[in-house]
Amino acid sequence: MAVQERANFGSKLGVILASAGSAVGLGNIWRFPCEVGENGGAAFILVYLICVVFLGVPVMVSEFLIGRHSRSNTATAYKILAPGTPWHFVGLMGVFSGFLILSYYIVVCGWTLEYAWTAASNGFSQVGDAMDYTAFFNNFVSNPWKPLLYLAVFMLITHYIVVRGVKEGIEKFSKVMMPMLLLIIGVLVVCSFSMPGSVKGLTFLLKPDFGKIDTGVVLSAMGQAFFSLSLGMGCLCTYASYFTKEVNLMKTAGSVVVIDTLVAVMSGFIIFPAVFSVPGLIPNAGPGLVFITLPNVFNIAFGNYPFLGYVFSVMFYVLLILSALTSTISMHEVATAYIHEKFKMTRAKGAFVVTSVCLSFGVLCSLSFGVLSDMTIAGFTLFDFFDYVSAKFLMPLGGMLISIFTGWYLDRKMVWEEITNEGRLRVPMFKFYIFLLKYVAPLAIGAIFVHELIKA
Ligand code: PHE
Repeated sequence: MAVQERANFGSKLGVILASAGSAVGLGNIWRFPCEVGENGGAAFILVYLICVVFLGVPVMVSEFLIGRHSRSNTATAYKILAPGTPWHFVGLMGVFSGFLILSYYIVVCGWTLEYAWTAASNGFSQVGDAMDYTAFFNNFVSNPWKPLLYLAVFMLITHYIVVRGVKEGIEKFSKVMMPMLLLIIGVLVVCSFSMPGSVKGLTFLLKPDFGKIDTGVVLSAMGQAFFSLSLGMGCLCTYASYFTKEVNLMKTAGSVVVIDTLVAVMSGFIIFPAVFSVPGLIPNAGPGLVFITLPNVFNIAFGNYPFLGYVFSVMFYVLLILSALTSTISMHEVATAYIHEKFKMTRAKGAFVVTSVCLSFGVLCSLSFGVLSDMTIAGFTLFDFFDYVSAKFLMPLGGMLISIFTGWYLDRKMVWEEITNEGRLRVPMFKFYIFLLKYVAPLAIGAIFVHELIKA
């Protein structure tokens, strides 16, 4: 029977770490500070946190229960739960988003490889001040072949782990990596606090200017929440299809959200004290922000102890690579599980299709920082377009539909049984959870979309 053939995650901790591994990634360490910088700091963070709690948590629990109940890839899951209805388009949309996100995310993954390599070979010691770091970044991303090479390497590593399968590949790996990442991020926060501009940085992060909040900021914050928590595209739904019946879905969602938010906020605390400490750096520098700022952090914070600076920077970039990898694996898995189960291909063949498609689009996205920078869609470069469509449109839309599906369509008893593990767990917030799904999430997401449309 198909149910028994499917793999499972081996332990409860493994479940949390694998899901957190998907959630924690470049979205937290690269995209979050970049969005905070572009959207004015503390006010954005506040809206972000509200989105995480009131939209992120309920949608995550819903994805978990849809996945675990159906024990299937995300598109088939809706076919099982809502046979003969168009709901499976939500799943298909997730698979499509998976392709889209992986194609541009892998570009930034490639950058992390170059930075790790430069750090390890002590290459940053030859770069002088902030302007040089900016030039280093710009030169690298616009180089016609180097980023492509790194991108391909990253894609192949992801491919290899996905082909090895769920327990061997994904779970083992996350168990070691997540605690190490948290530790080193903690050390870097302390380093950053010791920088001269830290007070300015903290003010930027903690003192909200409510005048800055408009729907653009809210849309960005909501998109970032969905992106960072890997929501709305079937990723956690696919992972939950490997959960056992013992897993406490609410608690797992709570742990994942806490870990993810902690890493994002801590990344902010690493980046912004540094941004305000170094002349020539600006908060709204866009995708290059983290890559330009971080080498400065290591340089200045460890100015008197270059060896320590060296060790920490190498460790940090390696961990950045690993956390990006647990995320690319999870995106890849959404599409691979779908192709494998839908078209009855082997996992290896399914993975090959996904890798080939994403590699091709990834190359185009990467080149949009250089030779293809003039090729735009609606004013966006290809990279920015993929980012916009997935994070600001497809993922929140997916989240909205998932809320409606769970809140309005699914049998309430089945939802209750999944969440309470057939009555064995006490879940006092159940009614509130349903309320969020039925009314708050669909209306809030819908309203933000409509407002953005009218504005456009
Ligand atoms: N959540 C991941 C991150 O923050 C990105 C991601 C998006 C992973 C969608 C899987 C699915 O880096």
